[in-house]
Amino acid sequence: MEKYVIKGGTPLSGEVTISGAKNAVVAMIPAAILADGPCILENVPDISDVRIMIDILKQMDVEVYYKAPGILYINAEHINGTKVPYQLATKMRASYYFLGALLGKFRHAEVALPGGCHLGPRPIDQHQKGFEALGVQTEVKGGAVIADAKFLVGAPVFFDQVSVGATINVMLCACMADGITTIENVAKEPHIVDVANFLNSMGAKIKGAGTDTIKITGVSKLKGSVYSVIPDQIEAGTYMAMAAATKGDVLVKNVIPRHMECMTAKLLEMGVGVEEGDDQIRVYYKKRPKPTLVKTLPYPGFPTDMQPLITTLLTVADGNSTVTETIWDSRFKYTEELQKMGANITVNGKTAMVTGVDELYPAPLQATDLRAGAAMVIAGLMANGTTEITNIHYVERGYENLVEKITAIGGDIRKEGTN
Ligand code: EPU
Repeated sequence: MEKYVIKGGTPLSGEVTISGAKNAVVAMIPAAILADGPCILENVPDISDVRIMIDILKQMDVEVYYKAPGILYINAEHINGTKVPYQLATKMRASYYFLGALLGKFRHAEVALPGGCHLGPRPIDQHQKGFEALGVQTEVKGGAVIADAKFLVGAPVFFDQVSVGATINVMLCACMADGITTIENVAKEPHIVDVANFLNSMGAKIKGAGTDTIKITGVSKLKGSVYSVIPDQIEAGTYMAMAAATKGDVLVKNVIPRHMECMTAKLLEMGVGVEEGDDQIRVYYKKRPKPTLVKTLPYPGFPTDMQPLITTLLTVADGNSTVTETIWDSRFKYTEELQKMGANITVNGKTAMVTGVDELYPAPLQATDLRAGAAMVIAGLMANGTTEITNIHYVERGYENLVEKITAIGGDIRKEGTN
């Protein structure tokens, strides 16, 4: 089993460059199926979720290969059907985007119920609601969603719950429907806008991405396109939190500072030094962080995916902090691991009370999901001594070259064991 071995206690300093956004690219890869010609995606991170998506395309006879590091060529002209390989689809959450893409192109899709991190119940009722409004019939049979439409007709859709996945999936499906689809109460995350921009570069007519309402005028054909993925907001937030937590001074490069306001504002509130440039942010330690309140919300609120990262920093703040998680029911599991390091965290339902301690101590830890694992890496880098983290396959789903990037800013981390 692979593990990270971290010798913590060193302030990190130097420069780290952020990779392309996981949660954008895992939607763009299926979206490329909609095009009649080849798509080229640039700034694609080499992470295991992307590798699974590539394997899915290969098994479906889609031509897919890297032209150069980070530059992915996809040509789905000879795709061999509408059934996504079952086992591969269950390995990740975002395989559900094949539903929207295959429906848009072929009016039929069969995709296993998605896997991914265990963050509590992860229903797809809003995806189904959106598809059904457009004329799709969906049923779950043998562990897979089978979706079929005689015609796809644009329609009004109102989400009962703000959902990243449902917003993107209905966009994928609606951009090749007949007529106009208006989706209300949509998610506004940067990756929603990026996916809409990619689809528009293919000839789709999507307006309003990044606001509460998205209007899509269906087109009969989409063409191939060359598109560069935005930087990963959550990866950037991870290195920002890591810089502060290790009492370091790190320049986080290739970011869109506007997307980072949630983290920047919290760090400033806590007394951490933050300086924004055009496409980079310097984060540096000044004094023991002040406690604060954090509440996760859909964008532009504080992202749930950064909650474990900021909570880890708060474990050594000078006083009591409150962290409220409103998106996922089971996103505090990692706090039990941090407690093994001496963190003082009490979880009560959706809220964690964090009482700052002087320092964290090394302990053997088990990653419980992707961002939980990243939080444990930060904690390991904070603690004087050697921390080992197992179950790191979760972390590898979403962080490109994590070990190399941390090593380059002075962290002592290595990967041991075999897969
Ligand atoms: N929800 C429903 N019904 C649905 C869909 C969602 O009730 O049909 C609920 C969920 O149970 C949850 C909330 O709506 O309470 C938000 O879920 P959302 O659909 O927005 O999440 P997702 O699309 O499954 C994406 C990211 C997650 C991130 C969430 C929230 C991808 C592949 N995953 O998941 O990222 O936590 O949005 O921002 O884009 C991660 O990267 O570590 C990660 C887990």
